[in-house]
Amino acid sequence: MTFPENLLAIRTISDDHILSFLNQSFQFKAKGADPAVGSILKGKTVLQFFTENSTRTKMSFEAAVRKLGGSSIGFAQQQSSLAKGETLKDTVQTIFQYGVDAVVVRNHSSGSPELFHKWLGVPIINAGDGQHEHPTQALLDAMTLIEHFTVHDKQRGKAPDPKILKGKLIYILGDVLHSRVARSNIHLLARLGADVVIGGPPTLLPKDLSLFPKITTEFQPDRVLRDVDAVMMLRVQYERQGAGYFPSKEEYRHFWGLTKDRIGLLKPEAAILHPGPINRGLEIDPEAAECPQSLILKQVENGVWMRMSVLAGILGSGGGKK
Ligand code: NCD
Repeated sequence: MTFPENLLAIRTISDDHILSFLNQSFQFKAKGADPAVGSILKGKTVLQFFTENSTRTKMSFEAAVRKLGGSSIGFAQQQSSLAKGETLKDTVQTIFQYGVDAVVVRNHSSGSPELFHKWLGVPIINAGDGQHEHPTQALLDAMTLIEHFTVHDKQRGKAPDPKILKGKLIYILGDVLHSRVARSNIHLLARLGADVVIGGPPTLLPKDLSLFPKITTEFQPDRVLRDVDAVMMLRVQYERQGAGYFPSKEEYRHFWGLTKDRIGLLKPEAAILHPGPINRGLEIDPEAAECPQSLILKQVENGVWMRMSVLAGILGSGGGKK
């Protein structure tokens, strides 16, 4: 297995690196609490630099560092000197003096992880940068889908194989425009051979799709939900929206929500994903979020195994090889 020096974006890492992260995450999950795994990051310190809200990503990175035997330094924006007007660069360079081997960064500016790499020269892992990418979320989503299809394609008992995604129809539905999760997933799923369709209100889809790999659009969920192997719902990101992308919450739910009626259209083995946090009763009804086809909590669980794989690959012995 070979691993990159950083994880800044799915778009910029190689197929080999993607497969190594996926395969290693399955190995960690299969091994569980293995003492050898528990010392991979012994003596290493990871700075968890989050300047945007996060529950799942932040806590799973912290749990992953702990499970690998490393330690984390946390960062609370509101109690820091950033809130006094210190620049991002000054703040990061200050914390760096406390001894940091890698930085996990979430920030509202697209491209900020690249700047961190330039400023600090240590491995950087992008935990979500603005509307750009969220590579570990896409990797854990792919992990979850591969596991799901391994069971449903009667491959139960076989080792999970990323090739199982070839030809699967995956519908990404919702606020694609503001979603870094969608961008990373579009690149990753297309690279792994899935057929990706995106949909949602036309106002919430990117205007220029030429930067993406081959994808198609379907604005009316009812026309595609019967055929999909998985539907990935996206949160309506009010914090990144101005007014007026859609007339009302009721209308959004009616046309684009995964309502309790719409789950009846899905094939029995089709999976429902959502990166969380969910807006209950808006993009997804509670009945859909909690039905047996929903993998939402499985995504959360797999987040720790995938982030262990990313941290161990990049920082553990053998990491950093091109
Ligand atoms: C996503 C994010 O922050 O980009 N959430 C997450 O990491 N689990 C998606 C979102 O906030 O809607």
